[in-house]
Amino acid sequence: MSKCLFVTGGAGFIGSALVRLLVNNTKYSIINIDKLTYAGNLESLKSIENSPNYSFVQADICDSEKINGLFNKYKPSGIIHLAAESHVDRSITGPNEFIQTNIVGTYNLLECARTYYNSLGDKSDFKFVHVSTDEVFGSLGETGYFSESTSYDPRSPYSASKASSDLLVRAWFHTYNFPIVITNCTNNYGPYHFPEKLIPLIINNALQLKSLPVYGNGKNIRDWLYVDDHARGLLLAFECGTIGESYCIGGHNERNNIQVVNTICSILDELKPRVDGKRYSDLITFVTDRQGHDYRYAMDPSKIMRDLGWKPLEDFDSGIRKTVQWFLDNKEWVEHVQSGDYQKWINKNYENR
Ligand code: NAD
Ligand code: DAU
Repeated sequence: MSKCLFVTGGAGFIGSALVRLLVNNTKYSIINIDKLTYAGNLESLKSIENSPNYSFVQADICDSEKINGLFNKYKPSGIIHLAAESHVDRSITGPNEFIQTNIVGTYNLLECARTYYNSLGDKSDFKFVHVSTDEVFGSLGETGYFSESTSYDPRSPYSASKASSDLLVRAWFHTYNFPIVITNCTNNYGPYHFPEKLIPLIINNALQLKSLPVYGNGKNIRDWLYVDDHARGLLLAFECGTIGESYCIGGHNERNNIQVVNTICSILDELKPRVDGKRYSDLITFVTDRQGHDYRYAMDPSKIMRDLGWKPLEDFDSGIRKTVQWFLDNKEWVEHVQSGDYQKWINKNYENR
């Protein structure tokens, strides 16, 4: 019988990439546990939804009765925890959901998982992988990199909530000997990215000839990683990561925001030239800066490369071209997000199961 693995947040951007990887390329039996907030989209899992080693359960990680029930029912060998509120701008205008899901939800999941773990005869096989972000480390100046030894210095409600959850996870290891691994990754991009984040927003606005909003002077720097490279890193962290350790993930792809936006515009000029003969970059509009906007993120991924043999398969040039092409080829997915139809998928496809 194949081992069961829980993935929380598997209907989100990174979670769905991980679920597709696990269902297609491993023998695990995957239980995707997701509340289906605005960011959860089961259409992203259409390609694997009928696979025999995949099941979806709609559940809130804050609901201990339901989560305890799932542990008792499925008896998983591990859990990869991605469920979270993930958008920095939303955390600035409304932090409450971030505190609830990212902190209280992670605490609840830890407690449910620990109760289940304590009930196991053979404990050697269980692992809890907590998926976190480079934003917990704060903001860099012109030089230097984040690594596993960088002190935490979160500065937005989102990053503070993620840092809190990391600390809870680490405390459960030190206090209860609970088997955890933490990963901290840089900015992801790729297919099925919800079009509120910079890259999918720019691609989709450009295709609709809407303005391309760049915060402040556009000089803020992010370190971009293609989402499937992150997913492979998470699988390695689950299978080979040392209990109690954390792993920083990133592909050395630093770009400032205006470079990113200009790159997308040039690729679109080539793949889908505007009918009015203008360039997509003519749509760029500098807008009011994000409050407390972190200047620069950049990661040193040496540890996961050395210890777990991880390396990215895409660099930014190859990954961004694939991403733009994916959005050109998958207009229906975007249209359903924009119309809200993606939230009807659960009723249409799961009501009789
Ligand atoms: P996302 O917003 O696309 O998806 C989050 C998923 O979690 C959604 O499917 C949503 O329905 C689900 N969810 C939210 N609240 C829930 C709850 N209370 N119970 C159950 N499910 C709930 O996020 P993402 O960009 O895929 O990020 C996934 C994880 O990776 C997050 O923990 C995030 O902090 C982390 N991360 C993201 C990035 C990035 O660049 N996007 C980088 C590093 C780390
Ligand atoms: O670094 C990892 C983090 O990356 C993850 O933990 C978060 O979940 C994820 O959302 C992402 O956070 P960012 O805030 O870096 O991503 P976002 O796409 O929102 O913004 C990227 C940069 O682009 C940032 O400097 C703000 C800027 N920006 C963003 C938007 C949405 C713009 O200039 N214009 C925009 O419209």
